[in-house]
Amino acid sequence: ISDVKNQLEKGTLYCAPTEIEVDLSESISKNFPSMDKVRLVNTGSEATMTAIRLARGFTKKKKIIKFEGCYHGAHDYVLVKAGSGAAHIGIPVSEGSLDEVSKNTLVVQYNNSDELQSLVEKEDDVAAVIVEPVLANMGLVLPEKNFLNDIRKITQEKNIVLIFDEVVTGFRMSSGGAQKYFGIKPDVTTLGKALGNGFPIAAVGGKSEIMDMLSPEGKVYQASTYAGNPVSVTAGLSSIKTMNKLQSKLYPRLEKNCVKLVSAIHDMASDMKIPHQINSISSMFQIFFTDDKVVDYSSAKKADMSKFKKLFETLLKNKVFIAPSQFETVFLSYAHSKDDIKDTISSYEKALQAVKP
Ligand SMILES: Cc1ncc(COP(=O)(O)O)c(C=O)c1O
Repeated sequence: ISDVKNQLEKGTLYCAPTEIEVDLSESISKNFPSMDKVRLVNTGSEATMTAIRLARGFTKKKKIIKFEGCYHGAHDYVLVKAGSGAAHIGIPVSEGSLDEVSKNTLVVQYNNSDELQSLVEKEDDVAAVIVEPVLANMGLVLPEKNFLNDIRKITQEKNIVLIFDEVVTGFRMSSGGAQKYFGIKPDVTTLGKALGNGFPIAAVGGKSEIMDMLSPEGKVYQASTYAGNPVSVTAGLSSIKTMNKLQSKLYPRLEKNCVKLVSAIHDMASDMKIPHQINSISSMFQIFFTDDKVVDYSSAKKADMSKFKKLFETLLKNKVFIAPSQFETVFLSYAHSKDDIKDTISSYEKALQAVKP
């Protein structure tokens, strides 16, 4: 915050490239070696929109493939069978979206690389596959053992650009996001959220040969008045500096607290004989009230939403505010102390009592 305050005094918007913008881009590339070059934008939506336009410009192909329940922002390219808030409107394509756009967005089930393989055998006009490497927008759904490796292999074989949307997982799962965590290199990556630690900033980056297509060097247009504004850039630089400094403490502590919380919730729910599943990884988790494993959108939808609503309401009454939707994830922060975890466990106990059959 003090770095940002200092920058506010110096200026909030120059509408011209700055040295700190270069510093931030270099520091992103250092943490994410797959991102040879980086373009700063304001939001995750802009980042995924630019990534897809780049893939289309680079491959000269038209269609994209996404996975059901993944959320990549609020623009027409990706608002097809999307998760998060978009899942609640209950229709596959947002009203107001153009059919001409959405018909070029093909959808397959998450964790189903066979379905992806058959689709790319049939379709030869696919520019990109975009995926949340860990799906945090229909509750939390983890990639199964070979899923990410399989989609890397399939896209490579078919000259399709693989976009990892790491707007949630970037800097959260590790200093190099999900790609470092799982050891997989996408062609293009999008970042947001944790990058600015509360300030509006996002980024898109990837292989040089793809990024060189971007204007003004290349012919894929991208621009924004506020992109690279010095206040958000300072927040980004300062966040990465802090994350890198804390790294050996930060990620292990987050993971430890998450495991502690999740195993306590699981034990309590089992003792109370509540049918449930908890998916969790690094500092993220979500509970689903169902007997079946949750691995994709169809299985996530089978969970008892009325029980989740009850859980949310009782947690809130007991001073724990999680996102009010089954299609969101619960995140832990470095700011959470041991006592916070203890208090959260007792609040979950009360909330589970309210859900109990
Ligand atoms: C994975 C993912 N991608 C993209 C976005 C869009 O980001 P923004 O809301 O900053 O436009 C989100 C937002 O929740 C997201 O979770």
